[in-house]
Amino acid sequence: MEIFKTAPELQAFALAAKRSGRTIALVPTMGFLHAGHASLIDIARRKAEIVIVSIFVNPTQFGPTEDLDKYPRDFEHDRILCLEHGVDVIYAPEPDAMYAPDASTWVEETKLSRPLCGAKRPIHFRGVTTVVAKLFNLALPDYAVFGMKDAQQLFVIRRMVRDLNFPVEIIAAPLVREKSGLALSSRNRYLSEDEKQRALVLSRTLEAAKPAIEQTGLGAIPAIIEAMRVEIEKAGGKVDYIEALDAATLEPPTDATVDVLLALAVYFGTTRLIDNTLIWVKR
Ligand code: PAF
Repeated sequence: MEIFKTAPELQAFALAAKRSGRTIALVPTMGFLHAGHASLIDIARRKAEIVIVSIFVNPTQFGPTEDLDKYPRDFEHDRILCLEHGVDVIYAPEPDAMYAPDASTWVEETKLSRPLCGAKRPIHFRGVTTVVAKLFNLALPDYAVFGMKDAQQLFVIRRMVRDLNFPVEIIAAPLVREKSGLALSSRNRYLSEDEKQRALVLSRTLEAAKPAIEQTGLGAIPAIIEAMRVEIEKAGGKVDYIEALDAATLEPPTDATVDVLLALAVYFGTTRLIDNTLIWVKR
């Protein structure tokens, strides 16, 4: 397994691989890898001859009051996990190897990135699309794997790829949960044992909402969201948002809606957790 720290090293490697006709799958991450990331890597491994994992805590997607400085990092743990899952290359640049000090170009998706997390974290998706576009230009992947845990991020990146004609197939990987139901996230590391127990209300309420909306239809959504809010607050969560949107447009569902994305962001203590479920609307 190779470890590259600079953009020219990665790009030269990827260009040589492409010239020799090999396929590349990229798994972009911010490190502190867990079983959710491992599942993305395993999908990439099955898909392409070369698997590249990027590990980069991207400063441009964090707001000024967010957790950039305390975001968990453990490169040695990540290196071993990548080795164990057959990764060929880790790309782990420092911020100044990724962004010129006077960088002034952004890649911005302006529709799907607006609601949900985009409404609460205004610069977040612009940072994500910019860094992912850069990673695509460096790693030259045929495939890139993103988890459904960050469903909005996945939809935004798919739209960017479509709109800017990146020759990359985006693969959606299922959300991975602990046995308890808690969605895996590097930020779970911030939770106390008590908060972790309380946070189980998120998957529990999402799980309960799914059949309720499937059986009762779109009309039931406001009451179901209100019931979720009450239960989450009872468990000590501070709701940032709970919303049900058309999964194709990220707008309020209409008669044409096929899939609903029921998504939430909730604070337990100072830790902001996100979770979601996709609901197929029967007619
Ligand atoms: O999902 C993440 O970990 C990040 O948003 C990503 C896609 C690696 C971009 O920094």
